[in-house]
Amino acid sequence: MFLEKLGELLATDMQAVDRVIREQLHSDVVLIRQVAEYIIGGGGKRLRPALVLLSAGALGYRGTAHHTLAAVVEFIHTATLLHDDVVDESSLRRGRPTANTLFGNAASVLVGDFVYSRAFQMMVNVDDMRVLRVLADATNVIAEGEVLQLMNCRNADINEASYLQVIRYKTAKLFEAAGRLGAIISGAPLQAEEAMATYGSHLGTAFQLIDDLLDYSGETGVIGKNVGDDLAEGKATLPLIRVMRHGSAEEAAVVRRAVETGDGADLEAVLAAIRRSGALDYARRQAEAEAGAACAALSAIPPTPYRDSLLQLASFAVTRTH
Ligand code: IPE
Ligand code: IPE
Ligand code: MG
Ligand code: MG
Repeated sequence: MFLEKLGELLATDMQAVDRVIREQLHSDVVLIRQVAEYIIGGGGKRLRPALVLLSAGALGYRGTAHHTLAAVVEFIHTATLLHDDVVDESSLRRGRPTANTLFGNAASVLVGDFVYSRAFQMMVNVDDMRVLRVLADATNVIAEGEVLQLMNCRNADINEASYLQVIRYKTAKLFEAAGRLGAIISGAPLQAEEAMATYGSHLGTAFQLIDDLLDYSGETGVIGKNVGDDLAEGKATLPLIRVMRHGSAEEAAVVRRAVETGDGADLEAVLAAIRRSGALDYARRQAEAEAGAACAALSAIPPTPYRDSLLQLASFAVTRTH
């Protein structure tokens, strides 16, 4: 499977990243250790750190700052998940009860803040103002994305453009930063840096489009999260937006009602409407187009095994089942 192959190319680097992650999670405060180790110990695909490593590898980086930055990016991701599961009232993540379920909302929010600020301590040590700017901007945009999404909750009139803006902000921005950082520390020319940023942005968009599709078409046991979580919050993701705009009047009405009440009660009827109207295929095609755009950006960087892996990462983003 793809992620194993990627694992071979990055094995040594990933071990180094895991070491940094473990060392940097340390705190004398017991509850911080418990919660942080719990969520990190749950695993996760480690896609964002892989992207930092691949980008640096593809552009000939020699050094160790990519290990630190890969860990930083995973920390920012982890902090957003701790906060996101509180906001989304999610009970399952990585196949286990969420931290908020186990330790409570307050602990999740506060340890999320610890993980965020630890990431900032670590990035300062890389001692590169451009690196700091990229990460500070990305973190800020993620927060904007999550708030925009909150404002859109239970709004059945949201269009595709607003939906895309939310996912570019909340998800794609960190992938974009991951790609860009590998290029910056490699001292790559601006054209290569922009190519890696563009790749990351499209990859992240494809990745979230599929995440939103799996929320309806996946299996809880495989995705490690509860199917139907988005509906239960009244989150109008692309499959729903598509039904409301292009489904039959009856299908559109079922979905509209479910979004507006936001209690997840109509999951079965919504699933039927999504399937009948072809909305899942539509969302998948959009994700494939984003993955295609990601791959196209890579023509601006030299062919290496790292670039091959970046191409494979883009296909994984759209074929994944978890
Ligand atoms: C989950 O991201 C949040 C989204 C942006 C969809 P991942 O699916 O990368 O989460 P882990 O780290 O593998 O659990
Ligand atoms: C993930 O968003 C959080 C961020 C990208 C900040 P979602 O709420 O869509 O992701 P899951 O489904 O909980 O992993
Ligand atoms: Mg969520
Ligand atoms: Mg989701």
